[in-house]
This record gives sequence, C-alpha cells and structure tokens, in this order.
Amino acid sequence: MQLLSDRILNMATSATLAMAAKARELRGEGKDIIGLSLGEPDFNTPDFIKEAAIQAINDDYNSYTPVDGYGELKDAIITKFKRDNGLTYAPAQIVVSTGAKQCLANIAGVMLNEGDEVILPCPYWVSYSDIVKLNGGVPVEVKTSIDTDFKMTAAQLEAAITPKTKMLWFSSPCNPSGSVYSEAELRALADVLVKHPNIYVVSDEIYEHINYKGGHASIAQFEDMYNNTITVNGVSKAFAMTGWRIGYIGAPEKIARACNKLQGQITSGANCIAQRAVITALNESPSKVQYMIDEFKVRRDLILDLLNDVEGFNTNTPDGAFYVFPNISHYFGKTLRGKTINNATDFSLYLLEEALVATVTGEAFGNPDCIRISYAASQEQIIEAIKRIKEAVS
Ligand SMILES: Cc1ncc(COP(=O)(O)O)c(C=O)c1O
Repeated sequence: MQLLSDRILNMATSATLAMAAKARELRGEGKDIIGLSLGEPDFNTPDFIKEAAIQAINDDYNSYTPVDGYGELKDAIITKFKRDNGLTYAPAQIVVSTGAKQCLANIAGVMLNEGDEVILPCPYWVSYSDIVKLNGGVPVEVKTSIDTDFKMTAAQLEAAITPKTKMLWFSSPCNPSGSVYSEAELRALADVLVKHPNIYVVSDEIYEHINYKGGHASIAQFEDMYNNTITVNGVSKAFAMTGWRIGYIGAPEKIARACNKLQGQITSGANCIAQRAVITALNESPSKVQYMIDEFKVRRDLILDLLNDVEGFNTNTPDGAFYVFPNISHYFGKTLRGKTINNATDFSLYLLEEALVATVTGEAFGNPDCIRISYAASQEQIIEAIKRIKEAVS
C-alpha cells in the first residue's frame, strides 16, 4: 500500500519556503546569498509587544485558551475592525488561529466540497491554490496582467463564474503584485457578486497597513457584501510578528462556528502568550508601527528606481505590501552565460546561481512571466542585489 496519501502527494511544496531552503543550502556552502525571496519583514517585533508577552509569561498564562481565542483578544479584534475598517462584528463572528494561513485552511476545510470552484485572480498568494485543492476545491485562475495593474476586472469575474462557483479568494494589498484595489474597484466586483448570493468572498487583508497611498478598503464594508464575506487578517506583516503565528477572521457566524469546530479538533487554538501580546498590539494605534511602513516605502521607491535601469524588467508600481513583480519574459529563449532561460523558474534559478540573489518564480503565484522580489531587506542589500542582477543579465 502507498505510504503517503494522494492528497499530500498531489500538493506542491510552498515555492517561497523551497527557495528559502535552497538559499540556505548555498549559504551553507559559503556563498554570499542575498535573500529576497521571503515574505517577512526584516524588523524586530516592537518592544511594547514583546513586553506584553513577557508580562503574560510572568502572569502564568500557560493553559489552553478558548479554541477561538481569548475573549479579550476577540474584543481587541472587534475594536480593530471597527476602528480601521468600519466593520462591526460580534464575538461569535471572530476566530483567532495560528496565522492567517490557518484561517485560510479552516475556511477551505469548512466550506468546500469536492468539485466546488474557487476563483483566484492571478497572481495570487502562493498557498491559495494548494489549500483549495487539498480540500477538494477546484481553483479557477483569472489571468490579469500589468496593463490592469494585476487587478481582476468585473467583466473577468463575471466570465469566470459558473454554477459550481463557491468562493472568490483575493488579497489586497496583493502578495505578490503589491496591487491595492480601490473602493470603486471593489464595488464593481461586488456589483457582480450580489447577483450570485451563493458565492462567498475571502478578503485577505493581511497587508492592510502596508499601503503607500492610504485608503484601505474592505469588501465587507459594503452592506450587500457583509454577509457573504470572510475578512482575514493577522499580525505577521504589520507588526513584524511572523513567527508568533496569530491570524484572525471576521465572518458570518455560521462559518466562524464551523472554523471553531474544525480548529478544536486540530490545534485546540493558538499559542497563549502570542495571543496576549496581540491584545496589546491591536489595541494600539496603527501609527505606532508607521515607521516600518515609511521605511518600506523608501525601499519600494529605491528598488523601482534601480530596476528601471535593468533591461527586460517590466514592473508595475506596487501601492502596498513589500514585493515587486516584474515581467521578465524578455529573457525567455535567450541564453545567458551558457544557460538557456525558458521560463520564470529558470530565470529565478539563474539569478540564484549567477547573481547569488534569491527571488521566487511567478509560476508559484499563477503567473509564469514574472518573478517576485521582496524588498523586506536593508537598502544596502537591495542596492547590492540589483547591481548583481544587472551584471548577471547584461
Ligand atoms: C497574502 C497572504 N495571506 C496570508 C499569509 C499568511 O500569513 P500568516 O503568517 O499570518 O500565516 C501571507 C504570508 O505570507 C500572505 O502573504
């Protein structure tokens, strides 16, 4: 009998984590790799949050927590949703999980049946497709391009809907393109969705605060979308807390209760110390972490400026998150230093081996013409990395 399940055998390894592992391996061989592949702020968790965690340890928070999160944390999340997004949720609509990633896995686990279709505007975050497939869903990719700033139009959404469509999943600001949907663009999508009341939206807003033009909009803000939207958020990105593993949802109560039930059989809830620290993080004004966003903006402008000078990197201007997603198809079919580049994966590997810079192939995000470069790195590293890339492709 086969050792491993078909489910896991059919699942792709996370390309971002795979690239990070390869970069680590090369570093182990003594190579000076600049890592621009991971989606992780390079800042430390702010002191006021660390102090709250230390206090929680000293206060003996060491027992299992309620499966869906401490009541005080749910209150902080409710306050945050109201303050930052104009969204009103009751405690029974909130579930705290081990990162936004688990929120997404919970949602897929409780909502998808075999063959249900999930619309994913491309490029999408690397794990969406595999989380959907693992739960029996069928990803339906909607291709977007740099011409529409990698955003799906209402007409494209309408055309992708079939009687089997169960959900739409998207992130804004988007990982990997950095695109931010305006309120008007979300309204146009909502106008299509309200004609299909059986379709639910997963609005992944984990990069909400990393927005350089301001004015974050949540699709659940529209009254006619509220009951059909699951808003996903977390602290990994805005508070530089990736390893603390806390994410949360605001959802229709039935869905939240089902996530609670699933989580109760799988993790029993998120880490207690991290939950206590996040109460403090969310109760603070987002202005407390503005210094990180200001620095990301400086780096975004820097990397765009530097890439402008590299042949064959056609890049949109990302309004949020901390990635650029250049179209590098200019190099397809070309041979560089004896290596033929046939696709984005070849190109990304070429940059790793020849420029010693780790990026991620766009294929992992459903766009085979692009690569993702994270600028969650110091300005010196960004300058050096783009210099090396320029040399490697010239
Ligand atoms: C769009 C998007 N959603 C969700 C996640 C998962 O975040 P978390 O660390 O909270 O699991 C990430 C992390 O890279 C992301 O980029």
